[in-house]
This record gives sequence, C-alpha cells and structure tokens, in this order.
Amino acid sequence: MKLRIGIVGCGSISEFRHFPEYLQRSDVEVVSCYDSNRTRSEKMAQLFGVKVAPSMEELVQNPAIDAISDCSPNHQHSVVTTMALQHGKHVLCEKPMALTAELCRAMNATADKAGKLLMIAHNQRLAPAHVKAKAIIQSGELGRVLSFRTTFGHKGPEYWSEEKSNKTWFFSQSSSGFGVAGDIAIHKIDLLRYLLGDEFVDVQATVFVADKKNPDGSPIAVPDNLVSIVRMKGGSYGTLTASWTYYGPEDNSTVLYCEKGIMTIYQDPEFQLRVSKFGGEDVYFKIGEIQTNDKQSNSGIVDAFVEAIHRGGPAPISGVDGLRGIEVVEAIFESSKTGRRVAVGHS
Ligand SMILES: NC(=O)c1ccc[n+]([C@@H]2O[C@H](COP(=O)([O-])OP(=O)(O)OC[C@H]3O[C@@H](n4cnc5c(N)ncnc54)[C@H](O)[C@@H]3O)[C@@H](O)[C@H]2O)c1
Repeated sequence: MKLRIGIVGCGSISEFRHFPEYLQRSDVEVVSCYDSNRTRSEKMAQLFGVKVAPSMEELVQNPAIDAISDCSPNHQHSVVTTMALQHGKHVLCEKPMALTAELCRAMNATADKAGKLLMIAHNQRLAPAHVKAKAIIQSGELGRVLSFRTTFGHKGPEYWSEEKSNKTWFFSQSSSGFGVAGDIAIHKIDLLRYLLGDEFVDVQATVFVADKKNPDGSPIAVPDNLVSIVRMKGGSYGTLTASWTYYGPEDNSTVLYCEKGIMTIYQDPEFQLRVSKFGGEDVYFKIGEIQTNDKQSNSGIVDAFVEAIHRGGPAPISGVDGLRGIEVVEAIFESSKTGRRVAVGHS
C-alpha cells in the first residue's frame, strides 16, 4: 500500500522540494495540501494534481493520511507538527525545528508519546560531498579534524520566498524568530555535528543587521548576518558564518583542516570535494552539486523520510538533532547580546 502524504504550507520549499520529491516515488501518494493562503494551495493542487484541504485541522485529522510534511513558516512548526503527531501522523518538519529549545523538547515528547516518527529537514547531511567527507573522516585517513571554517550565504530569502518581496515573513521577528541564524546558519550547525560526530561546547558570536530593510525602509528586526567562533567537545575550534547579504554567488562551503590533510567542500563549482593529503596528490571528486536557491535538485530528504517510515524508524535526522541545533542558535543570540562566550546547553 502506498504511503499517503499531506503537505502543510505551499510556499517555495514545498513547491521546489517536497512536492516534486514525493511525486518522484512510486510508493507514495500525495493526498492533499493546505496553506493559509488559499491561492497558494490551489496553485500547488493544480500543479501537482492533489486535493486542497479546507483547513490544517482537517488535513492532520484525515485518516487517509499517514504522514505530513510541515512546510509552514518557522513559528508554526511547533503548532502544525505537534497537532499532526497527536493525530497519529509521522512528520517531516522543516528547519528550524521551533523558535525555542523548550518547544523542541515538547515536540519530541509528543512524538515519543504518539510513537510516531519525527524527522527534521536538515538536508545538508545528505549532500553527496558531505556524505563522502564524513566517510573520509570516519576512515581515519586524514586523522583528527583540528579546526574548520564553514559558511552559508546568499542574497536573501526575499528572492526565494513565494512572496518575492521584503514583506516576507523571513524578516519578521515573530514568524522567523532568528533571521539568518535559524534560516541558514542552522544548516551549518547541523552539518558540523554530523561531519565531526561531535557536539558544540560554546560559542562566541555576533549577530547583526548589515543591510536588509522592511518595506518602509527601516532595518529588519532579525539579523541578516552572523559571525561566530565555535568550540566542539572533541577540542576543535572553527568559524561559522552566515549571511543574507552575499549579493554575488551563493557560498555554501566548508573547509576541514585535519592532522594529515585538508578537505575543501562545495567551494569549487566543478569539483565538489577536494582532498589534499599532505605528502600526496590532491584528489578531486565530482560527486553532485548542492541545491542552491536558483538551482534545485533532489535533496534526498523526502527519500530518507519515506524510507525511515518503511523501515519502522528511527528518523535519520531526529527531533533531538533539531533540538541540538536550536540550543546552539539560542547560545549564539545570548553571546551576541552579552558579548560573552556562552556555553551551549544540552538536555
Ligand atoms: N531545508 C531547506 O533547505 C529549506 C529551504 C527553504 C525554506 N525552508 C523552511 O521551510 C519553511 C517554509 O519556507 P518557504 O521557503 O517555503 O517559505 P515561503 O514564504 O515561500 O512559503 C511559506 C508558505 O506558508 C504559508 N503559511 C503561512 N502560515 C501558514 C500556516 N499557519 N499554515 C499553513 N501555511 C501557512 C504561506 O502562505 C506560504 O505559502 C520554513 O520553515 C523555512 O525555514 C527550508
């Protein structure tokens, strides 16, 4: 029997990733979708041949749906995902998981109680060069990762969000919560945890508004830039930066400085991974591009979700992974506010 899916939120991420990635699979049927803006749900229904649910409640209560994708704006994740779990649905929830660590913990408790799978869409883990880099680290051939730098920046969500204007919810404190930190820095936070197999200990960070403006010309209320020094439990330090004001090409790169060599990831558009082993030759891998806002490809997140459900779990990127990311983001804001290095709280 096919896995029956409902999609909540019919903006850009569902249009460019969730719908197409589900519809590529023969073992899945997308039953219906819901968006608080009816024009959007009708557009997706027409584009992808699915029904429009009259309300979010109707969609998450529908017994003909097994699992949902929560593609609503950040502040709605805790509402939509919680309600779906309570009605016995597995959930693929977009990142950032929620606006506070406390809400993340409550969502995890709900998933546990319901016995349903909760997965967070930290898709950077699935990008081929990241998977390969992780395998190389695990093989031990480059030794320990001593330090690193990682960055994610582009020209801003107002060019991506379905609204295509500075009115976007991404610029609103109440809807976005963390600005660039929850939007794209969180991808790199999760990536570092995945690549290094390690947890964050503390952060020294500054978040600031460099350029983005509301429609009335005032600076936006959430940061459009983040610069930080981070320390991992295993002892390595690195920099993590994120920006909505890289007005040239996107930068989605990571460099790992290891004991026996250097790995450069998604820096060269032609060779997504370069491994420079000291005393040896550089090896260049051409193993698949990462998605950019202007160029989409299958992120693998939907496949990973569907396959985890078929296997009976667990989710490969769990609610605890989502929570860990939010804990780092909370420490980043605390550090920026106080000017101090701040410990990352684990619970
Ligand atoms: N994994 C990734 O790489 C990635 C990339 C982009 C966005 N996202 C995440 O996906 C989520 C959606 O972002 P987007 O880019 O599609 O934004 P978007 O602005 O393009 O679309 C958001 C949609 O949600 C709808 N909406 C608002 N409130 C709603 C509600 N209460 N219930 C249902 N729908 C509602 C809006 O009408 C809009 O159609 C965000 O959490 C964002 O962080 C993830």
